[in-house]
Parts: sequence; structure tokens; C-alpha cells
Amino acid sequence: MSTWGRRSHDLAPNAPGLSSMAIHIRDANHRDLPRVLEIERLAFSTPWSLQSFQRELTLPFSRIIVAVPRLDESEPPSGFLCRWIIADECHILNVAVHPDYRRSGVGAALLAMVIREAKEKRAEAVTLEVRRSNLPARQLYRKFEFEERRLRRGYYGPGEDAIVMELRFA
Ligand SMILES: CC(C)(COP(=O)(O)OP(=O)(O)OC[C@H]1O[C@@H](n2cnc3c(N)ncnc32)[C@H](O)[C@@H]1OP(=O)(O)O)[C@@H](O)C(=O)NCCC(=O)NCCS
Repeated sequence: MSTWGRRSHDLAPNAPGLSSMAIHIRDANHRDLPRVLEIERLAFSTPWSLQSFQRELTLPFSRIIVAVPRLDESEPPSGFLCRWIIADECHILNVAVHPDYRRSGVGAALLAMVIREAKEKRAEAVTLEVRRSNLPARQLYRKFEFEERRLRRGYYGPGEDAIVMELRFA
């Protein structure tokens, strides 16, 4: 079984951007969804619905992971990430951290875990779309050596372009 197969990890201390805060990453379950939805609504102007998250939990190629404090794993999640792995590509669909916990390494811990999983599963690349105006997220991805590949004009609506970013392993 791969290390990811245990579906629960303490943070990878070598991930860039991590503080000394101890973060535990595990798979999300239905009980986490109210908190995940709360974080989603605080993060995005057009948030996913509860039904969207419920659907992701049923899809075999989808995974939602959450970050909780290592010393008290009963605490509500501080952030989440949703990814798909299909064929040789890992795609990040959604990632957000509660405003109270930003800039403390949570986003980096979630991203590090997904990159590690993608490598273990022999994916060739991790891809995502990010709003051109979302400088914190673009900076986070650049820190993990994602490259900005192309622009999708109007992807998020009029004047809201997406940048397609990719981390290629090979
Ligand atoms: C983007 C987001 C997930 C980052 O989460 P986070 O837990 O605050 O990020 P981290 O503390 O792990 O930061 C890691 C690195 O990301 C970059 N970063 C994060 N927030 C940043 C900010 N406000 N400004 C500039 N760089 C930032 C930095 O490079 C940082 O490393 P550093 O702290 O050593 O400088 C968070 O800001 C968020 O939830 N935003 C709203 C939702 C969103 O935009 N999601 C991404 C959609 S594509």
C-alpha cells in the first residue's frame, strides 16, 4: 500500500511555505461538509453547492482532503482541496483555506499532499485553472513550480480570465 493509501497524513515538513504549525491531512467525509461549505462560501463569490461536494464524495476518481490541527484532530477543518485523477493527469478543482487560518501553511500542506499522491500514482502532471486576478493563489502555485501555460479568456465570466497552470513531472 502506498503511504497515500492510508488516507491520513501529518504534514510533509519539506513542503515550501509551511510554518511550524502541525497540520494533519485526511480524507473528507460527509460530516465535514458543513465546514467545507462554510470555507467555500467565505472564499468564493460563486461557491459550489452542498450537492456539488456531496457528488464529489461519490466519484471514484475524485477526492476531497481536509486539513486539521495535528494536536486536536477533532477540530473543524481549516482548509480543503478537491482533486480528480483521471488517466495520467491530476486536476485540482477547488482549494480554499478559512480566512482565520491563511498564511500559516495550510494551503501549502494540502497542495504538497496532492502533488505527492500524483507522483505516487505515476501521474505525468498536475493541472488547475486560477483567476488571473488571484495573486495569492498564483503565488502559492508558483512556489510549487507550477508554470503558467495559457490564458482562457472569460472562463469565469466577462473580464474574468483563467490561467491554466501545470506542474509536469517528466
Ligand atoms: C490561496 C489560498 C488557498 C492560500 O492558502 P494559505 O493557507 O493562506 O497559503 P499558505 O499559508 O500555505 O502559503 C503558501 C504560499 O502561498 C503564497 N501566498 C499565500 N497567500 C498569499 C498572499 N496573500 N499573498 C501573496 N502570496 C501568498 C506564498 O508564496 C506563501 O508562502 P510564504 O507564506 O512562505 O510567503 C488562500 O489564500 C485561499 O483560500 N484563498 C481563497 C480561495 C482561493 O483563491 N483558492 C484558489 C483558487 S485557484
